[in-house]
Formats: sequence, structure tokens, C-alpha cells
Amino acid sequence: MRQPIHRHGAVLGIVLFLAFSSLHAQTPPASAVASAHPLATRAGVEILDAGGNAFDAAIAVTAALAVVEPTGSGLGGGGFWLLHRSRDAHDVMIDGRERAPLAATRDMYLDDKGEVVPRLSVDGPLAAAIPGTAAALDHLANAYGRLPLATSLAPAIRLAGEGFPVDEHYLRMARFRLEALRQSPAAAAIFLQDNEVPQTGHVIRQPDLARTLEAIATRGAAGFYQGPVARRLVAGVREAGGIWTLEDLQQYRVVEREPITGAYRGMKIVSAAPPSSGGIALLTMLNILANYELEALPTATRKHLIVEAMRRAYRDRAEYLGDPDFVDIPVTRLIHPYYGAGLSQSIRLDRATPSRSLPGFTIVSAGADTTHFSILDSEGNRVAATLSINFPFGAAFVPPGSGVLLNDEMDDFSAKPGTPNVYGLVGAASNAIAPGKRPLSSMSPTFVEAPGRGVAILGTPGGSRIITMVLLGILDFAQGNGPRSWVATGRFHHQYLPDTITYEPGALDPDEIATLKRLGHRLKARGRPYGNMQAILWDQGKNRVAAASDPRGNGLATVIPARPAQ
Ligand code: GLY
Repeated sequence: MRQPIHRHGAVLGIVLFLAFSSLHAQTPPASAVASAHPLATRAGVEILDAGGNAFDAAIAVTAALAVVEPTGSGLGGGGFWLLHRSRDAHDVMIDGRERAPLAATRDMYLDDKGEVVPRLSVDGPLAAAIPGTAAALDHLANAYGRLPLATSLAPAIRLAGEGFPVDEHYLRMARFRLEALRQSPAAAAIFLQDNEVPQTGHVIRQPDLARTLEAIATRGAAGFYQGPVARRLVAGVREAGGIWTLEDLQQYRVVEREPITGAYRGMKIVSAAPPSSGGIALLTMLNILANYELEALPTATRKHLIVEAMRRAYRDRAEYLGDPDFVDIPVTRLIHPYYGAGLSQSIRLDRATPSRSLPGFTIVSAGADTTHFSILDSEGNRVAATLSINFPFGAAFVPPGSGVLLNDEMDDFSAKPGTPNVYGLVGAASNAIAPGKRPLSSMSPTFVEAPGRGVAILGTPGGSRIITMVLLGILDFAQGNGPRSWVATGRFHHQYLPDTITYEPGALDPDEIATLKRLGHRLKARGRPYGNMQAILWDQGKNRVAAASDPRGNGLATVIPARPAQ
């Protein structure tokens, strides 16, 4: 019943390398910025106009999002900035992921009976890991930017002082996190209006955050991790029952990591390395799917195969992945085309594989808010950055006087590792809490280089569904479509456990639903669409740049034609 088609080999690898090298010979006819908030996109454009490169613009967008989209990311959080420097074709991932505090312990969220205490890793200062965003901003400016950090941070400082009007997404998330925000007087004073969800049109001003941003503009990372801001953060956390110390902040460093790379149908995939699971899971899924001629199959069969690839990649995610500074991850094996081919042997075209028939592991869900932006500058430099404070409004806690909304990224660890799951198997030890460790993430900023077609820059928020959304975007690109289609395409998801396909309204048609059910899949329609993809395509064949912001969100994608040479 299988339909093996083609395999990528070493010869193809060499041909691809030559083809990819030629991608760097030209510069784009335009630059572009796509982010989840118009004010953040405009901040990036302002910095490009001021002579900054994509990396300076990434600083501006990161900092602006920290101000105007507090539901998704911020100085109190972290993220992954995937960079491509055009002059030497250098790809690197800046890992600004949060770290567990030094006083963190493996069982810190369990009660006397060894049961997880609800909400302890989600609300309040004990949920917060040590943030990485400020260190990443400093590193981007020093190692890759062209402008002073103070220049790139200026738009965000201005926005924090002047304020921004709340939008529908903000109001929905504030409603969702109202009780948690009320627990932190400093958070409630900033993000609520008289302790209630703000009225439409309410303007959020953040003078404390402006001062913290100014400290970073003046002193770089030291303005955040040392001195008055650091003391304010630690005092606020500890007074409310948290465990941060000044040493935690002083020790924080970003890490430059080699991205995960691989190939799919002649395209080069560059994506996030551990502690993100994104790149590895993407490559596993693509290596499975490379064994089928997807376009030649009926759409329901195609979706069945995509789901089976998702199921297998997410099982491996739970078993093997964690912070690479703490656990050995068999990366080479997991992203090898032969491994994908081997996994594809277990897939039947006429039947769903029950997840319980695969060796099982505990699944940890990831917070679903987060944010993503994509940037291309006129020199061909690129940034794909996915940033997070985890749940909407993170831990919903602000240390007084700092203006910094803290993350609840500790919830991305497995709180109860080593415990047999419902199938009696032990899992998730690779993602157990340890002092100084980074929690496993699903954030998947990605580049796709397709010889003859161009370069794609994409990513999205969405918790554990991030990786499957990026997969569907890549498959759509492989079918010949552009960024408007990638961001709009209907989404479906499987993550091994629960053994259910979830899908957006309209993502599966009635015939597909009937066929998938007949194959033995369980399906669950989601009430709302999900994700907020921001994408750019530099189409080298047509010498054109296109950008798109997910129609499900309120973002803005802007293409700025390059100025003619004087
Ligand atoms: N907090 C979401 C993620 O890292 O995947």
C-alpha cells in the first residue's frame, strides 16, 4: 500500500549546495518587514530607513513588540532569532531562551504527594524563568547590527512613553488572564483599567518600561542584568514568593547555535536548533513526506500522510529533546533522510496508526501566545524571530517599578518527569527542570531556500502547533504558492498525544473528514482559527519581494522598494 517515490542522496546534496550558493549572488529589489503588530512593523521600517540593516530592524521590532504586544513577548521573556548574513552566507540562531533560576529544582511544582500543583508554573513569579530578550538585543547590536543600540531602541522607547491603543486580541487575552493579572498590582496598574478589562480604545502607557528600555539603550545588557533594574526585578520577584537572585541575572548569556539544516525536494530548510524542537521535528516530518509524491495523491490521502508524519515527529520530540547543554540529543539521526524513510515504512495508506501502538511518552503542552516576525533587508540579510513569554501576558506578574512583564516559560519544562504515563512508559526526563537549564520550545523560525524560486522567511506563534503550522507553510511553498497563501492556508494538527487531529474551521472538507474517519483517525474541530504567521518571499526568479501577515491576526507586512543607487 505504500508509495515510495524518491530519496535525497549525497549527489543531490552537492547539486543543492551549488544551487544554494548561487542564491547569494544577487541582492533583493526591496526590503520587507512582517510582524504581528503594525506599530512594530513600522518601528522596523523606521530603522531600515535610518540606514540600519535587518539585524538593527530586528532589535527595533523585538523591542516594539515588547511594548505593544505584551500578550506575546517582551523583555521579561526570550526567543530565538534566526539570522542569515548575506555577505558570507552565515546562518546562525541566537538562543535567547529563558533559563531556569539557579534555585530551581526538578520537583518544584509538585506537592507532598508528588502531584503537580495547578497554576504554580503558570501564574506569578515562581513560574518565571530568567529572561533572555535583553541580552539578545545587546548581542544583535554588537555582533550583527550597524546602528547603535540606542538608535534601534528609540522607536520602542517612544511607544512605551506615548502609549498604544488596545486591540481586540489584547482585550480577549486580558479577559482570559484577568484573575492572574489582578494578583499582581503592578501588572494590573499597567494592563487593566481600574482592575477590569480595559474599554475599547484605551491607551496603555508604560513609563517604567520606557525607563528600563532606556537603561538597556545606555548600558546594553548590563542595564537589565545588573544595577537598579536587576535589583528591582529580583526584589519584586522575591517579595512575591519567587526564587530569583542577582546571580541568576548576572549569569545570563545568549548562545549562538548552529541552525538545523536539511533538504526537502530540492529546497534547503534552515530552522531552529535545540532547545527548540522545531527544526528537528520539521526535518523529521519532511524526511518522511519526501518518500511520497504528495501532489499526485488525493487530498485526503495527502493529509493522512502529513498527519502520520506529525504523529511520529512529535513522539520523538517528547522522547529525545531538551536543552542541548544538558542532554545528548541524537540530532544527526533524527534529521537524517534514512531515518525519515525508515519511519515512513511504518505508515499505511489505508489505516491510521494508533498512537498507543508507538512507544509512548508524556506530552508537555506549550503556551499558545508568543509572536513571530520576519525581516529581509536590501542587502539580502534576513531575520526570522519567534519570541515568547509563553501564556498570554506570561506569568501575569510585573516586579514593581520595572515595567517588565515576566514569562511563565517554566511551564514548558515537564513538571513531573520520570513518572510513567498512561501507557506505563517513562518519558520527558530530557526536559526535566534543572538549575540554569532552558525549557524545550516549539518555536520554529525558518528559512527555506529554493533554487530558481527564491528564499522564504516564515514562522508563527501557537504553542505545540507552531511546528505543524510551519510544516504546512513549507509544503504550500513547495506546491508553488506564495506568502499570502502560506499564511492563510487552513491548518490541521496532530501531536501524537492526544491521538486526535485538530483542525481549523474549513481546513478539512466534508469528503476529507469522512475519509480520515474511515482510516481510523479521531477528529476534533477547533472553534477558532489559530496561529499568526508572518512571512516574506524573495522571489529570485521574478526578482520580486512579497510579504504577508496572517489574516487571523492584526499584523502588518510591508515591502519597501530599494532606493535606486545615487
Ligand atoms: N512558549 C512556547 C514555546 O516555547 O514553544
